[in-house]
Amino acid sequence: MNLTNFSTYYDFRSTLHTNRLVGLWRMMADFRPYYLLAAISLAVSAMAKTAGFFLLRYFADNVLAGTGSSLPFSLNLTQFLIAIALGFMGLALVEGGFAYFSGRLAAFTAEGVTRRLRNFLFDHIQRLNFSYHSKTKTGDLIERCTSDVDALRRFFSQQAIGVGRIILLFVVNFIALLSLHTGLAWFSIISLPFILLITVWFFKQITKRYEDYQEQEAVLSTTLQENLTGVRVVKAFANQNYEIGKFEKDNLEKFRRGKLLLITHSLYWPLSQFVLGIQLLAGYIFGALLTINAEITVGTYLAYSGMVIWLLWPIQNLGRLIVDTSAGMVSYTRIMAITKQIREPLSDGKVSPAGPLKGEIVFEDVSFKYSDGSAEVLNSISFKVKPGQTVALLGSTGSGKTSLVNLLPRFHEYSNGKIMLDGVDLKDYSRKYLRRQIGIVEQEPFLFSRSIRENISYGLGRDIRGDEIEAAAKAAAIHEDIISFPDGYSTLVGERGVTLSGGQKQRVTIARILLKNPRILIFDDSTSSVDMDTEAEIRAALNRLMEGRTTFIIAHRIQTVMNADLILVLNKGNIVQKGSHKELIVQKDSIYRQMFDIQTRIDEELEIEVSQAK
Ligand code: UTP
Ligand code: MG
Repeated sequence: MNLTNFSTYYDFRSTLHTNRLVGLWRMMADFRPYYLLAAISLAVSAMAKTAGFFLLRYFADNVLAGTGSSLPFSLNLTQFLIAIALGFMGLALVEGGFAYFSGRLAAFTAEGVTRRLRNFLFDHIQRLNFSYHSKTKTGDLIERCTSDVDALRRFFSQQAIGVGRIILLFVVNFIALLSLHTGLAWFSIISLPFILLITVWFFKQITKRYEDYQEQEAVLSTTLQENLTGVRVVKAFANQNYEIGKFEKDNLEKFRRGKLLLITHSLYWPLSQFVLGIQLLAGYIFGALLTINAEITVGTYLAYSGMVIWLLWPIQNLGRLIVDTSAGMVSYTRIMAITKQIREPLSDGKVSPAGPLKGEIVFEDVSFKYSDGSAEVLNSISFKVKPGQTVALLGSTGSGKTSLVNLLPRFHEYSNGKIMLDGVDLKDYSRKYLRRQIGIVEQEPFLFSRSIRENISYGLGRDIRGDEIEAAAKAAAIHEDIISFPDGYSTLVGERGVTLSGGQKQRVTIARILLKNPRILIFDDSTSSVDMDTEAEIRAALNRLMEGRTTFIIAHRIQTVMNADLILVLNKGNIVQKGSHKELIVQKDSIYRQMFDIQTRIDEELEIEVSQAK
């Protein structure tokens, strides 16, 4: 039994089923034989337990009843007692041994299935599209991938097998009881319908309460995760007390729901205990009457008193287990909600050019809105770019600049109009190809908590030599910064290493894109504001990066965009001005002219101030 014998990936999309039990059964895929073996081991263990009671009866009727003369195999009393004792020990060994074996197999199955499930979920989540990620809370996703997967693990290792064990114990013991005395056996399960009714009711209640509880747990982890990520904002606004208050409120709600869940849970046990207690007592009295009337032997009565406990115990535990099983069912639904999501096809294009793109881009009447938004974010956008040209996008915040450039790598699908790339509809290219050909310096650059070297060479799909990385870093004007760190290129970024400034992060990203060497470049610089020197350096790095590539550059400063071949001024998703700097600057009272005037005035004032300060 070794987990490495199984492929570590399994496509759980094939396990989707509206009936959760069917779905859970499908999830076990390759592990089913092991699970069945686990169930069989349990059966053997259960039978050994019942056999013990038969041995007891035999012992009581043949020895205790004083018929020592009729000992079998002509054994003397001592030998006979030793044989009986050995028999009990043997049965106990079989019972314990097989229970252990079954537990091992169940654990193996549970760990194996959930290991694959985790691998699958990680893989699957990576392949979902942007709109899924932007509308899903990270905390909730994490919750589903950890706590819910764990609930399934418990379901497979304890509850599912537990239910099997209990049903087996019940069946084996009931058949055994029937062989003792039919009337007594039936009398002993008279309360079964009541117990079942109670169980069904509790199952429904607890399922609902458990759902509520998990939901609130997700709220809490989202709050926690957001606060950890946004700790700077919280501190900057000295808003800790508000956040703490909010967390406490959410936590109180979790406490309330958890309490409700546990109370319901703990009510089940005494209630069923009460019913079964009466049942047990009635059975003992009935059995005693039968013994007094000599309808059954004392040995049978003794065996009955032991066995009936093992008949009622499963009934009671079945209820409890079924109730616990609801956790597994709820988690199944929660995980399947992720599994159900359609993946973003990466290699769905009809055309896959062997070489790189030339980079001619034509937008024809393109409109776009986000799947979860109601208003159009882009309206009838039309423009043309020749290979190697630079397009600058200007416009107030929220005017749709980032949305426009994000259409190129097919992060989102546009509704109307057409985008042609080298004369071919953009939708005919596979996403994978496009993303290889397009390099984006994001508006909010993200670096992984890995070394700077790994961050620069990230996702290039080939081994990158050290000198290549250095050359890229030099071109991106970040080399000097990097070697000033204690571990140079091996310096870790983030939690366990250095924290890079916004400008530094941006330049690391530029170095990465330089290495990627894409045909189309997108530089989304809407918000970053760096000092003059750094800006000049970044601009120089950018100019190097732009050479020979079709470039989209989003910036707020006129200086950055002045040299562009085409400037698009956006306002509320519409192109309000289009042309080169020369063409736009002569349009009096236009947005572009106003921006130019304001920025030159500010720059002049700044210069005067600086010269006065000197
Ligand atoms: P953009 O993100 O395209 O604006 O959002 P922008 O021009 O780049 O703005 P800055 O300069 O970076 O600030 C355009 C519109 O699309 C909506 C936004 O609310 C905004 O009104 N939007 C953006 C969405 O609805 N969903 C998104 O995922 C992103
Ligand atoms: Mg933007």
